[in-house]
Amino acid sequence: MFEKHGVPVLAGATATTPAQAREAAEAIGPKSGGVTVVKAQVKTGGRGKAGGVKVAKSADEAEEHAKAILGMDIKGHTVGTVMIAQGARIAEEYYFSVLLDRANRTYLAMCSKEGGMEIEQLAVERPEALARIAVDPNTGIDAAKAAEIVEAAGFDAETGAKIAPVLEKLWAVYRDEDATLVEVNPLVKTEDGDIVALDGKVTLDANADFRHPDHEALEDKDAADPLEAAAKEKGLNYVKLDGSVGIIGNGAGLVMSTLDVVAYAGEEFAGSPKPANFLDIGGGASAEVMANGLHIILGDEQVKSVFVNVFGGITSCDAVANGIVGALEALGDQATKPLVVRLDGNNVEEGRRILADANHPLVTIEETMDGAARKAAELASAATN
Ligand SMILES: Nc1ncnc2c1ncn2[C@@H]1O[C@H](COP(=O)(O)OP(=O)(O)O)[C@@H](O)[C@H]1O
Ligand SMILES: [Mg+2]
Repeated sequence: MFEKHGVPVLAGATATTPAQAREAAEAIGPKSGGVTVVKAQVKTGGRGKAGGVKVAKSADEAEEHAKAILGMDIKGHTVGTVMIAQGARIAEEYYFSVLLDRANRTYLAMCSKEGGMEIEQLAVERPEALARIAVDPNTGIDAAKAAEIVEAAGFDAETGAKIAPVLEKLWAVYRDEDATLVEVNPLVKTEDGDIVALDGKVTLDANADFRHPDHEALEDKDAADPLEAAAKEKGLNYVKLDGSVGIIGNGAGLVMSTLDVVAYAGEEFAGSPKPANFLDIGGGASAEVMANGLHIILGDEQVKSVFVNVFGGITSCDAVANGIVGALEALGDQATKPLVVRLDGNNVEEGRRILADANHPLVTIEETMDGAARKAAELASAATN
């Protein structure tokens, strides 16, 4: 991705077996005096510290390193692929990133002459060594902004002039790929005086996936949360959280407030149960959609109770109630956890009647959102404590 936007990078090839790593090292090594670097391809930082980045002086050594690194566990990610990269003769290591600064409603560029190390540590210990420059979305990082950034980071004029154009290209990656983070640590100056991005971390905005068909190939399906992957397949808006109260609602706004209300209600009970997920089933709460949603949520072992919070607008409450009854029927023995249902809005009386008539042993009907949140939190607390 960096290469596509003209960011200077070193040659590299990926390998999934030690033999492939040797072949890659034989092809790439000659570009850098026989030296290559074998790097774990996992989507987390700190690979170097964990032993996942190793210099090889020969193809033999590259094969050995690949043998050691493949299969390694780095922060919960199993290494299935390594990159064999050209070895750089590093003179200096710098840091650069551009990200979405939500709190200040702008983009933020961060730059430091002291790269390589963990930037979080630098930001805490020596914040003055990390320049932070707001970037206006309308102009982005143009030549003037790039010059401002390198000056704020304290680079001398000569080095600054070499780095600035690279920052403009990294901005092109950020903007054109719809990223929310582009981080290079380290951005290096080689002994020959060239500026090269040695490491890159990019967070892509999934909301823009529709205009980047090529991004799908970058997804690491093995590393994705299995429940989130299953939900995505069903077209559900699901985000896994850490608590024990499963949440199903219609409309992102209602689901967000439901999370707040459940977290607040949970404080009253032992263990302070919290929401286990965000799940927005959208406008049409049919039996099928409801069953898909319940199926995902009940698949989460941490879930002890489920709160279904639906406001009948376009979809009337009787349709939703039928959806819940149908979903429970379809799930049969797989539905094992108590369900607290709060329905309101269009045709609510009929909806509640349908649920009452079905008289399902797992279902509790509550009239208010607060009451339902308390009940769901109470049930989750009772099941855990
Ligand atoms: N191609 C390379 N040539 C020489 N040294 C490298 C190369 N790639 C990485 N390194 C060194 O290894 C360190 C860690 O690698 P990096 O890609 O930054 O991984 P991580 O940040 O996940 O630890 C870098 O800070 C750099 O010093
Ligand atoms: Mg790094």
